[in-house]
Amino acid sequence: MEVLILPDPAAVAVAAADRLAAAVAKKPDLVLGLPTGRTPLPFYDELAARYQRGELDLSQVPFFHLDELALPPDHPASFATYRDRHAGARIGLDPQRGDIPRGDVPDLVAEAQRYEAALAAAGGLDLAVLGIGEDGHVAYNLPGPVHEETHVVRLPDSLAAQLGVTPPLSAITLGLRALREARQVVILATGASKQRAVWALLEGPEDPQWPCSLLRGHGGLTVVLDVAAGR
Ligand code: PGA
Repeated sequence: MEVLILPDPAAVAVAAADRLAAAVAKKPDLVLGLPTGRTPLPFYDELAARYQRGELDLSQVPFFHLDELALPPDHPASFATYRDRHAGARIGLDPQRGDIPRGDVPDLVAEAQRYEAALAAAGGLDLAVLGIGEDGHVAYNLPGPVHEETHVVRLPDSLAAQLGVTPPLSAITLGLRALREARQVVILATGASKQRAVWALLEGPEDPQWPCSLLRGHGGLTVVLDVAAGR
């Protein structure tokens, strides 16, 4: 495990973009797993800037979003909307090569199975970029029993509120196995509110109550923190 503690979120974004750029330079069609949330926003801004300067080519990259809410794709809070606003074509990805769970289908379990199969058919993730929740969640693998496969999860009302959605709210998320089996994992955390989760990730016991801790043994793990999260 490599741990970088950097001065601020901008430096975290640059380091994460450097990791992605280096991986794509080696394998232009690597399979990429992409996060949602506030933490990755500077990372996406950095990728967009590099793409606009002609320094980064993600056009051959198949990509999978880690999770999606049970909302129509055009809902303002959906992760498809987030993708279109912050990632996607803005960072030079080819929309034809991307997949994200559909959140508005009648059978979310069947959609989770489709997504699991689509990722398996692509050969799994070469590089997963992840945030972590204050409660230690990775993608939407929440504290509690471990789900290895892509699954449907009922989000705590506090998370729904944070997303600006009236509960109840469910999501489809990749399971722990897809993250563990990614060839390379880059975890980003910024801000003091993530200190407890960062401790669980780096130093705590491996504990399903802190899902991030279950990734600690990953051989290709890089953790990129700002000083506020890493102190
Ligand atoms: P955040 O979310 O980046 O908005 O804090 C973290 C996460 O849910 O992974």
